[in-house]
Parts: sequence; C-alpha cells; structure tokens
Amino acid sequence: MYSHHLFDQLAELGLSEWGARLEPVLSQRLSARHHGDFDKWQAAIARLPEAIPTLVDLNQSAIEIGIAADLSAEQHNSLLEQLRQFHPWRKGPFNLFGHYIDTEWRSDWKWDRLVKDIAPLSGRKVLDIGCGSGYHSWRMRGAAADFVLGIDPTMIFVMQYFVMQRYIQDYHVAVLPLGIDELPDQLNCFDSVFSMGLLYHRRDPKAHLQELKSCLRDEGELILETLVIDEEFGDVLIPEGRYAQMRNVWSIPSIKTLEGWLKQEGYNKVRCIDVNVTSIEEQRTTEWMQFQSLSDYLDSSDPGKTTEGYPAPMRAIMLAEK
Ligand SMILES: C[S@@+](CC[C@H](N)C(=O)[O-])C[C@H]1O[C@@H](n2cnc3c(N)ncnc32)[C@H](O)[C@@H]1O
Repeated sequence: MYSHHLFDQLAELGLSEWGARLEPVLSQRLSARHHGDFDKWQAAIARLPEAIPTLVDLNQSAIEIGIAADLSAEQHNSLLEQLRQFHPWRKGPFNLFGHYIDTEWRSDWKWDRLVKDIAPLSGRKVLDIGCGSGYHSWRMRGAAADFVLGIDPTMIFVMQYFVMQRYIQDYHVAVLPLGIDELPDQLNCFDSVFSMGLLYHRRDPKAHLQELKSCLRDEGELILETLVIDEEFGDVLIPEGRYAQMRNVWSIPSIKTLEGWLKQEGYNKVRCIDVNVTSIEEQRTTEWMQFQSLSDYLDSSDPGKTTEGYPAPMRAIMLAEK
C-alpha cells in the first residue's frame, strides 16, 4: 500500500537502509496476521467509489476532499457505508465529498493554537509521532512541509489515513504503522518533530524527551503537547490507577516541571505557547465516534475533576530547540 515515493523520501533523509529494513515490517503489519480486521478494512478501501476529487484543500479546519457533485447518489451511499467501517473516527474533522466527518476531537483547535508560534513548516521534513488518523500530518503538508512522516501503532488510525490518501494522492505525507520504539536510534534528521498527546502514555517521560531529541537535526524544533497540572497540585501527578478512565497515564507534570525536564535533557529556547483546559465541545461523542467521551470522564457534580477525583484534563503546548 506504500509506493516507491515513501522509500525515495526516506532516501532523501539519508534513511535508505532503514527503508529497506522497513519493507517486510510494513507488509506484515498491513495484513490479517497483524490485525484481525485488516481484510475487512482493505475490502472497504477497495470498495470506495472510483472518483477524482475536483478539489483538495489541506488548509481548512475540516480537511476538504472533493465536493458533493463529484459523486453520484449511489456513490455517496457507498462512500458512507465504507467510511462507517472505520469507526471510531477520533481525530479530524474531514469533509469528504460534502460529508462532514465530525470526529470525537476538534483537532483543528489544537492546530490553531500552535500554528502561529512554531517555526514555519515550509520546505521542512517533519516527524509526527503518535499521529492518529494523520489529521495534523495533512495540516502540516497544507502548511507547505516538504515531507511529513507520521507514525502510529494503532492500525485503525493508519487505515483512516489510507482512506484519505486514496483521494488526496499526496506522497509527501506517509503514515506508518509503527510505535516510537521502532524508529532507529539517532535519526538526527528531522527539521520539526511533533509529539502530541503521547508523553503521558510513556512510562519514562524524560527518556521520551531524549528519544524526540535524537530524531531532530541540530537546531530543529520540538513541538510537544501533553497533559499538565496546575502547580497547586504539585510538581507531577502520578495517577494511581486510571486518569479520566485511561489506563495508561503515567505522569502529568506541571508546566514548570516540564520546562525543567526539557532543559535537563539539553533543549534550548524552551517555552510554553499555550495552556488550555479541554472542553466538552472539543472532545465529545459524535455520530462518527459513538463511544463515551470527555463528559463521561468528568465528575458530574464537579466538572473541574475527573471521575477519579483528579484535576480535569488540561493541556500545554511547549516548543524547544535541539
Ligand atoms: C492522544 S492520541 C494523539 C493524536 C494526535 N497526535 C493528536 O494530538 O491529536 C495518542 C496517539 O498516540 C498513539 N500511540 C500510542 N503509543 C504510541 C507509541 N509507542 N508510539 C507512537 N504512537 C503511539 C496512539 O495510537 C494515539 O493515536
């Protein structure tokens, strides 16, 4: 499902050897041996209507692909039927041939919070770690990045990328079914590295900051988005058991602690560009994501707390330079 363009892009980054090693890994991941639903997803992609979108605009809040008139009534029905095979749609939104895919997250709001402050992406090689459906990776390309490599180990999200790529056909964006631990050591080649929504899932947050640094070229920029706590709750919250019903949240630092960690790991120009308490308008159940969402994870008598009694999710965006 990946073309030679991916391997050409990796070669441009000086990563042809890794590209060669990756080929069999990618083939194994994109198979029913790796995920029991793979054949169902592949069949759904094959049944997507044959159509060429009259427009593609990666610079819209809802990434725009095609217009309603590009498809016949029958094709519209088929498109919707196939898209439902990829539930839950968490990161977006997308507007596909006039169908608004209202994802669980308004990921465009996060994008709007960071885009004005980061080093302009024009011409840059970008790594988007934990990219989910690739929503932000597409926005990065919309901001003229030369190449965006997204990685995410969750297969359904990688398949959502393939749905969009089927119509967008832009080989300057690739999403691979990999976790961060599968990247080679010391890549030292990306101009910008994004880690958004991932640090708190890592057992050793400082080791994660070091891994991110090793992906960057000298003076490259890290864009780190993660859960934080107010200083009044201490330096770092180590949840006992779940946090907002998530099982794998290991640590939630204060902004000051996070700044300290980044500096200790050798980053320069460390700064916080945004702090935001996640609202139930930004993360919610929708037609395209029918499971529980943020409002179910908050204490109904005190929305400032999670159901476990911890401070409700608040997120910071940090920038730092290698
Ligand atoms: C909270 S989501 C964030 C998605 C997106 N970056 C955003 O900010 O909207 C975290 C993502 O990290 C992915 N993830 C989990 N473990 C990972 C790992 N070891 N390496 C890379 N990604 C991982 C998950 O599959 C999920 O898509």
